[in-house]
Amino acid sequence: MIDGDAPDHPDTREDRTRQAWEEASGKHVREYDALLAEARGARLLPVEEELLGPLLARRPDVLHPQSGHGIDDIALIAAGARSVVGLDYSATAVGAAQQRADELGRPCRYLLTQVPPFPVDTASADLVYTGKGALIWLPDLDTWAAEVVRVLRPGGHLFVHEAHPAVPLWSWDEDEARIRPDRSYFARTHVNDTFPALGAVEHQHTLAEIVMAVTRAGLQLLELLEHPEPFWRPVGARAQAWEGRLPNSFTLLASVDVTRPGAGPVSPGARTSA
Ligand SMILES: C[S@@+](CC[C@H](N)C(=O)[O-])C[C@H]1O[C@@H](n2cnc3c(N)ncnc32)[C@H](O)[C@@H]1O
Repeated sequence: MIDGDAPDHPDTREDRTRQAWEEASGKHVREYDALLAEARGARLLPVEEELLGPLLARRPDVLHPQSGHGIDDIALIAAGARSVVGLDYSATAVGAAQQRADELGRPCRYLLTQVPPFPVDTASADLVYTGKGALIWLPDLDTWAAEVVRVLRPGGHLFVHEAHPAVPLWSWDEDEARIRPDRSYFARTHVNDTFPALGAVEHQHTLAEIVMAVTRAGLQLLELLEHPEPFWRPVGARAQAWEGRLPNSFTLLASVDVTRPGAGPVSPGARTSA
């Protein structure tokens, strides 16, 4: 079976994935001091600074679904954000991120929750910032995108910097980049066989599916960039697939579309042609 779909029940799968993240997040506690030191000087990636610079200069309130260790939240504050609310379903991740932000005196607040939905008020954020290993854990991007639209204020933005959906296909061979024979770009899921999410079931969304979920929800696409550089390189790992010939990450910027009549959350299939 080329698509690697896991045969077990979806609820069991999601529980196992959550458990895998609870265990992987132990790193945020074990390496608390090193991460605290990293957080003190934390900066966003150059592509993030370039696209988000003008938005962060307006001192936005940021919502960060799937916030993980929260280092990016410290970087968002350093770059101008007024506040960050992080959402994550790992108690370990949420606890470590909150402790770090408090210790540094940064206005970040963390909520323990499975997303979507986002447990915050409608129209309460200027920027939804997410990615770096987030979308692959969500089975349904339409529900996620509708929540993004609900929480954004008029003129608000969605920013995603994420692994390219083609990444599951690339082998980690050092001599030559190869396409894995056990993976398909169009599979719905595959089982992760690398750190940190070893054994967890990843959801696959093609680039078109991600863009269409965002635009169907009523957001206007402002930027879509594909990059050869992965958003993260595991320590000690080298792969030809990361050396410039293949897409390894993408960046998407979208805004609440205030100009298009009838914009807003629309369920898939509910749109009718004029
Ligand atoms: C790759 S990690 C961190 C991503 C984060 N942007 C970062 O750079 O630290 C993914 C995080 O998403 C969280 N997560 C995965 N699925 C989730 C869900 N459905 N609801 C809430 N958190 C989730 C995990 O607990 C983990 O902390």
